[in-house]
Amino acid sequence: MKKIIIAIDGHSACGKSTLAKKLAKEMKYVYIDSGAMYRAVTLFAIQNNWVSDDGQSVDENELINALDSINISFNYNSKSGKSDTFLNGVNIEDEIRTMKVAKSVSAVAKLKKVREKLVEFQQSLGKNKGIVMDGRDIGTVVFPNADLKIWVTANMEVRTARRYKELIEMGDKITVDEVRANIQSRDFEDSNRKESPLKRADDAKDIDNSYLTKEQTVQSAMDLINAKILEN
Ligand code: DC
Repeated sequence: MKKIIIAIDGHSACGKSTLAKKLAKEMKYVYIDSGAMYRAVTLFAIQNNWVSDDGQSVDENELINALDSINISFNYNSKSGKSDTFLNGVNIEDEIRTMKVAKSVSAVAKLKKVREKLVEFQQSLGKNKGIVMDGRDIGTVVFPNADLKIWVTANMEVRTARRYKELIEMGDKITVDEVRANIQSRDFEDSNRKESPLKRADDAKDIDNSYLTKEQTVQSAMDLINAKILEN
């Protein structure tokens, strides 16, 4: 069967990664979490003390000069059955999910040179198709010719509750208000930055999963995939 590229975009914490992972499993495709790459570069900047305490600004010159020394990779973890993110050979999967990284990632993700490096890497991973990638600019910049583009949405309270649960389970000490504020601020930063702002591709198909179970969400996407494959 012909392999396709599936691009999944949407605001923070609306279930893109959960959906993308399930679709990749179902289709036996590669899953790539592009947000993990921006988080990895952010962690690198934090480790080098190039990020301000409030996470709002980053020492751009230092980070850009060091970009070539950042190597990001993904490796399958047989224990969790998922793929983990590595930064220069070190497993950073848990560390990049913390609020500390979430608070600083928008300042890093808006940098043109960072985006250029990561977009090139993302495009190289899609060369052989058979890939599901989720992020903010996958259908608009990374794969503007993707066979299927899905725009995922969910309402703010649902998104906040889901992300809060994830963070608490990971041991982050945080309040619901902090989580909501972080999601709102990332939505704003991601949508209003100069370089590849988050926006729905004109030819994307919408899935609002506010009131859908995970299974129903996957089914809606599988219907879109099957229709697309039949079309080709
Ligand atoms: O998907 P996520 O929440 O893990 O992404 C973390 C941040 O990375 C998000 O706030 C914006 C940025 N990002 C981006 O700018 N472009 C992408 N393709 C993916 C993520």
